[in-house]
Amino acid sequence: MNNRKRLNCGVIGVGRLGYQHAMNLARNNRANLVAVADPNEDARDLAVQDFGVEKTYDDYHKILEDPDIQGVVIATPTKQHYKVLVDTINAGKSIFVEKPITYTVEEAERILEQVNSTNTYLQVGFMRRFDPGHVSAKQMIEAGEIGQPIYIHDCQRDPNGPPKHYVPESGGLFVDMGIHDLDCVRWLMNDEIVSIYAQGAVLKHQYLKEMDDVDQGHMLITFANNTLADIEISRNANDIYDVRTEVIGTKSSVYIGQHQLTPFVKVNGQGMTYNLANWCLGRFEKAYELEIAAFVDGVLNGEESPVDAFDGMIGLKLAMAATASYKQKAVVKIE
Ligand SMILES: NC(=O)c1ccc[n+]([C@@H]2O[C@H](COP(=O)([O-])OP(=O)(O)OC[C@H]3O[C@@H](n4cnc5c(N)ncnc54)[C@H](O)[C@@H]3O)[C@@H](O)[C@H]2O)c1
Repeated sequence: MNNRKRLNCGVIGVGRLGYQHAMNLARNNRANLVAVADPNEDARDLAVQDFGVEKTYDDYHKILEDPDIQGVVIATPTKQHYKVLVDTINAGKSIFVEKPITYTVEEAERILEQVNSTNTYLQVGFMRRFDPGHVSAKQMIEAGEIGQPIYIHDCQRDPNGPPKHYVPESGGLFVDMGIHDLDCVRWLMNDEIVSIYAQGAVLKHQYLKEMDDVDQGHMLITFANNTLADIEISRNANDIYDVRTEVIGTKSSVYIGQHQLTPFVKVNGQGMTYNLANWCLGRFEKAYELEIAAFVDGVLNGEESPVDAFDGMIGLKLAMAATASYKQKAVVKIE
């Protein structure tokens, strides 16, 4: 019999990411998936069918009113994060919130203040920090194995353009996608970014033009200690999901990049073929599982959040600075 304490959790918003988090909570032996809330009936029904969740609501306040629920995962569209976060903090729950933490930097700063003043556990969904490849690289860098890290190159390519309904609530390419890369380079280099020069363009998905968004972006970055980074983000990878990071040190380098979804290579007369990931849910499947496990364990053990509201606020501030840079065609300095 398992007498260990379990964290009762509710998920607010069970769309693409919320479904993944609900699944990982249902599979976690330190958590109970107690309830989901979503105005979309089909999304709620799927959670019942796939995870046997007992309580489903069209109004998320019902989850917040439930005294049996201690942990809340927020995976609504980004524009709604702020309101749901404020309500969830006021309800005294521990929080896992998808990235970006909020839609505006001002909102993120207010959340940071509230979280600090109420001593609320809040973890942001920067899942790369839990990806085994990224974690091994971080450990190597911290152990001094590559010498001083002096340069980082990072690339993230989505398989396709985003669904049209998703774009207006997403914050745009630099916020929606670039925020992962900005957090990743800041974390791996263990330094703060002080300036960004960004370029953006629509190269393939013409519908993004009328939505004031782009499908290709580049960022040239300077860190406080004068080391450098460059980041490429795009929606143009033609049906594959491609994330690669290279950290160059004074002694050696570490490359993180795992094209294969499963570790086999098919060899024939034409060459070798790999099984590729076609979206983040495949490429970072383990990372999503481990970040939710870290949330559950962190709350149950009374630990500090490994990706806190400050990381969420800084990530958004940097992504907004990149957006401003490409629009103004100018270097933006970060205070
Ligand atoms: N970490 C990652 O890799 C990653 C990838 C994609 C999206 N995201 C983030 O996840 C969040 C959700 O994105 P998605 O792709 O799952 O979107 P989605 O549109 O697939 O899902 C959002 C869900 O929220 C529901 N919803 C809307 N308003 C609600 C409310 N008031 N209460 C409860 N539910 C509500 C919708 O009905 C929908 O089911 C966004 O913040 C996005 O930035 C993160």
